[in-house]
Amino acid sequence: MHAIDVFTHYERNHWNLWEVDFDAVELDKVEPAYITIARGGAMGESNVVAAVHGFMNEFVDDYDFSTFAVVWGYQEVQHHCMFRKWLEAVGQPIDDTKVGAMRQPYAPGTSPAATIATNIISELTVNHVYKRVANVVKEPVLKKLLLNASLDEAGHAREFIEYGRRRIAAYPKEIPSMLEALYVYTAENSIKHPVSVFKGGLSELSDCETIDDVLDIFLSEIADEGELAALHANIRRVFGNMLDRDLETSGKLRRALAEAL
Ligand SMILES: [Fe+2]
Ligand SMILES: [Fe+2]
Repeated sequence: MHAIDVFTHYERNHWNLWEVDFDAVELDKVEPAYITIARGGAMGESNVVAAVHGFMNEFVDDYDFSTFAVVWGYQEVQHHCMFRKWLEAVGQPIDDTKVGAMRQPYAPGTSPAATIATNIISELTVNHVYKRVANVVKEPVLKKLLLNASLDEAGHAREFIEYGRRRIAAYPKEIPSMLEALYVYTAENSIKHPVSVFKGGLSELSDCETIDDVLDIFLSEIADEGELAALHANIRRVFGNMLDRDLETSGKLRRALAEAL
């Protein structure tokens, strides 16, 4: 069972929340954008519960993947908690009722492979965005937390890719749905996170920060010219390797999708 290897590997790289010194937060280095980043991050990460619930519903026949989802969920809970503890340290705690609105499970994707694809895309995206945001954040505790989380997200992407490979080897008919998910998220020159695609319409969230705010700050204030296109190209390359197809450009992806359908 692959999840045993994942568990061991994650344990080896695990960092502990109890070891983070939140008293060391340097308040004079906190900028208003950092509050938005931490709140948006906390809200984005809070979706872990809905996601695990969705995985349990959708993968009832797959003990290995379900076990991985639980292990993965533990690390995402840590990300949610780390942003909240940092926000408390700077006197800007998050509202529990907003977090509560994220509880409902995700509906199944078009196929289990498409659900895995969506998660690969979101992990690769937050891995990149957290790392780039960490580079410019001057408050040392938040900076370190973002770097820790960024590394975790890379480890998550790697395992979702592995499970994606296994899923399509067993269910090749799900390949088109995977290409479709890839197309939805990378064809346009805009950045979308599945959390906002699926939960952006919740009225409880109308006046609170979401992961979109983190992505907006990344795009408007941090990203270099062409950086988003390069990120999308990298995501398509990852899928190209996984599916053994050339998906380097969105044109090639469109052709692959047309052929697969
Ligand atoms: Fe995370
Ligand atoms: Fe993650």
